[in-house]
Amino acid sequence: MKILMVCLGNICRSPLAEGIMQHLVTQHGLDWEVDSAGTGNWHVGQGPDRRSVHVARNNGIDISGQVCRVFNVNDFDRFNHILVMDKNNLRDVWAKARDENDRNKVSLLLGESHVPDPYYDDAQFAPVFKLIEKGCRDFIDGHQ
Ligand code: 4NP
Repeated sequence: MKILMVCLGNICRSPLAEGIMQHLVTQHGLDWEVDSAGTGNWHVGQGPDRRSVHVARNNGIDISGQVCRVFNVNDFDRFNHILVMDKNNLRDVWAKARDENDRNKVSLLLGESHVPDPYYDDAQFAPVFKLIEKGCRDFIDGHQ
């Protein structure tokens, strides 16, 4: 199984999602590949936001080595599932889909609800971590 986590900047939410999913996948002894990308290009080449690095580290996960990249159309070929954080991510990734098969690979990590963008609110990073962790646990439970 190959999973791509996507948010807007690829510095706050999707790096957390990549790190948390990788952590849980390893815990479960699953041989899954996990990566992340952003729909926007502002932070390409940078590491994750320090607030995400911090909340991950507080939960025993090191995401500091990740490097920001932009989602591109080849990702539809490389991954089985593309899990996005919010409705805007869904719209932006769907806009790059070539066909129905591409479209069907994309879903919200939390099903119906979304992971809010914590970029402008430091207090959101801890609850965002919990939301993403729940989404990752539920995904693994549904796909083992
Ligand atoms: P993310 O948060 O999508 O969770 O990585 C954001 C990071 C940066 C920006 C927006 C959202 N930005 O506009 O630079």
